[in-house]
Amino acid sequence: MFAVGIVAAAGSGLRLGADRPKALVPLAARPLVAWAVATLVDGGVDEVVVAVPAAEHDQFAAVLPDGVRLVEGGATRTASVRAALGAVPDGAGAVLVHDAARPLTPPAVVARVLDALAAGALAVVPVLPVVDTTVVVDGQGTVTAAPDRGTLRRVQTPQGFDRATLVAAYAALDDTAELTDDAAVVRAHGVPVTTVAGDERAAKVTVAHDLALAELQVSR
Ligand code: CTP
Ligand code: MG
Repeated sequence: MFAVGIVAAAGSGLRLGADRPKALVPLAARPLVAWAVATLVDGGVDEVVVAVPAAEHDQFAAVLPDGVRLVEGGATRTASVRAALGAVPDGAGAVLVHDAARPLTPPAVVARVLDALAAGALAVVPVLPVVDTTVVVDGQGTVTAAPDRGTLRRVQTPQGFDRATLVAAYAALDDTAELTDDAAVVRAHGVPVTTVAGDERAAKVTVAHDLALAELQVSR
């Protein structure tokens, strides 16, 4: 099965607050986007398309391996993935969508996602258990419900899809819709989403503390 990886790397990284787009911020002297691309390739994808901010196209091209395709991202993650999906060849059987912001994702997670697709899943996400009691609050911050955490999972990337299924789900999605991940796009289209084990090392770099933790991990 020919698998194409999409890396969503077109965000600005407002919460990290660095002097450049988050995907270009170095971790152990290597930009986050380069880590994410390497994970996909090492895990078994055949080709990679990266959605980048239009203004920084050349900086991204300079830090990525030859053969990686760059496309101009959009104003939201959903728009960026939609743009990258347009550059995926029709012949691809699988598409894995990954966040540049998850630099230390082990390639084994990619392999688990690919295996699930090869076994027939149309959509698969890596997940971890929720270890804290998790509650629902109202507008005043008052707790209104406490779902059984045994049924809850934290969802990571890369998320894997049958290519035709993901293309059809994006085609059916309103142009202005903004969803936080791609599994939500296919679920909105009625596609069942299955799960495989995620990995704590696939944590997302969102704020400065997360980057500091990632630096500690690579320095050990
Ligand atoms: N992303 C993207 N296009 C956008 C917004 C986000 O490709 N218009 C990507 C980011 O580059 C990131 C991933 O989606 O790899 C997850 O988004 P997030 O962690 O929110 O990154 P940013 O949007 O860059 O950060 P912030 O929300 O703090 O500005
Ligand atoms: Mg964002």
